[in-house]
Amino acid sequence: MHIHTLTAHEIQPPVIEDLCTLLGDAVSGGASVGWVAVPSTQDATAYWHSVADQVQRGALVLLVAQDAPQVIGTVQLHLSDRPNGAHRAEVPRLLVHSRARRRGVGAALMAALEVEARQHGVSLLVLDTRTGDPSQHLYEKLGDTLAGIIPHYALSTTGVLEPTAIMYKVLGAVGPHPAESGQRTDHGTTLPRGT
Ligand SMILES: CC(C)(COP(=O)(O)OP(=O)(O)OC[C@H]1O[C@@H](n2cnc3c(N)ncnc32)[C@H](O)[C@@H]1OP(=O)(O)O)[C@@H](O)C(=O)NCCC(=O)NCCS
Repeated sequence: MHIHTLTAHEIQPPVIEDLCTLLGDAVSGGASVGWVAVPSTQDATAYWHSVADQVQRGALVLLVAQDAPQVIGTVQLHLSDRPNGAHRAEVPRLLVHSRARRRGVGAALMAALEVEARQHGVSLLVLDTRTGDPSQHLYEKLGDTLAGIIPHYALSTTGVLEPTAIMYKVLGAVGPHPAESGQRTDHGTTLPRGT
């Protein structure tokens, strides 16, 4: 299993197809990741193209976990465009394919994301997750702090308004980004548990 960032140019078939599969797999499993029904291939593809646009603009970093050739996990680092928020970023869409879970892929993606965040000068990560989800356990295990819970935050795939846990993590010292903008960063090979 290999974790690396993708350039906008690399977010195209067959990678886009894998990313659409990941999204559909998560939503069909009831995950709270923005959709209440599995998006059509057309909608999911349009979404990942919009992600590629944001990568191109330098507004977002997209990381993937690849079990060559297949993408089995992904996470995003949304950089703030506010003048007073250059030090913070949001972390949406941590997705690991249901067939690859509980092998450390999610934790490895978050570790690589923290490296990326520091290299982009980010010292504060902000994220939210449905209260009690596996992701909340993962974030707590990685040292994130629970800021609070907002009730009735998001509509579930079963039509219920569910609470979300707002979490944050203050990172250590930040350094300059070693790579030129738009270049791929390689986070090396991690052997997940059980492989
Ligand atoms: C959340 C998710 C990304 C976790 O990915 P993963 O690769 O299975 O996670 P890891 O194997 O790295 O687990 C790391 C730790 O997280 C916690 N964790 C992960 N899944 C868990 C579960 N189902 N129940 C309880 N704790 C869990 C555990 O502490 C685990 O450590 P352990 O295995 O040593 O006990 C995955 O379940 C997923 O994609 N879910 C659907 C999408 C989603 O909800 N994303 C979050 C959006 S905010």
